[in-house]
Amino acid sequence: MKVLIIYDSKYGNTKIVTENILVGIKQVEGIDTAICYAKDVDPQIIASYDALIIGAPNHMASPSQTMKKFVDNLTEINLNAKSVAVFGTYSGRVRVTDRAVKKMEKIVEKTLPNLKLLSPSLSVRVKGVTGPVADGELSKCQDFGKRIAKQLNT
Ligand SMILES: Cc1cc2nc3c(=O)[nH]c(=O)nc-3n(C[C@H](O)[C@H](O)[C@H](O)COP(=O)(O)O)c2cc1C
Repeated sequence: MKVLIIYDSKYGNTKIVTENILVGIKQVEGIDTAICYAKDVDPQIIASYDALIIGAPNHMASPSQTMKKFVDNLTEINLNAKSVAVFGTYSGRVRVTDRAVKKMEKIVEKTLPNLKLLSPSLSVRVKGVTGPVADGELSKCQDFGKRIAKQLNT
């Protein structure tokens, strides 16, 4: 089982979240995982993965433009992946904490209908616009990674 985590990040918080998801995945045997920044990823490499995990910062109640464009471009690739999971970061001041992640779920379901969306998704709070990740949130990221890995192993 090969899993690729692709993230976007302006200030580095979503990258830290990604690294903690990786820590969680590594707690489960039998999963080969890699991390990639959305702007650097080679489309041909994506095609060889069995599952994708996609994460983005909340920019104006939506996933970042970079990530929306990235997901859109996935339609050009003959994907091997059967499953996808999503996560995102948001600043501490919003009332609806998972709005951007919910939008990302809808985008993924619409754009990649052949992939099974693994749920629930993960929303991670950062302090203000630039971070850091709020206290206690990184353990949620590791738990998310572990849960996704177990779901993929069954
Ligand atoms: C242009 C812009 C718009 C944003 N809009 C929202 C928003 O609507 N709701 C929210 O909770 N956070 C918003 N934020 C805060 C981001 O969610 C926060 O900067 C991000 O989670 C940090 O992740 P990063 O370090 O990976 O970039 C916004 C940030 C930027 C830069």
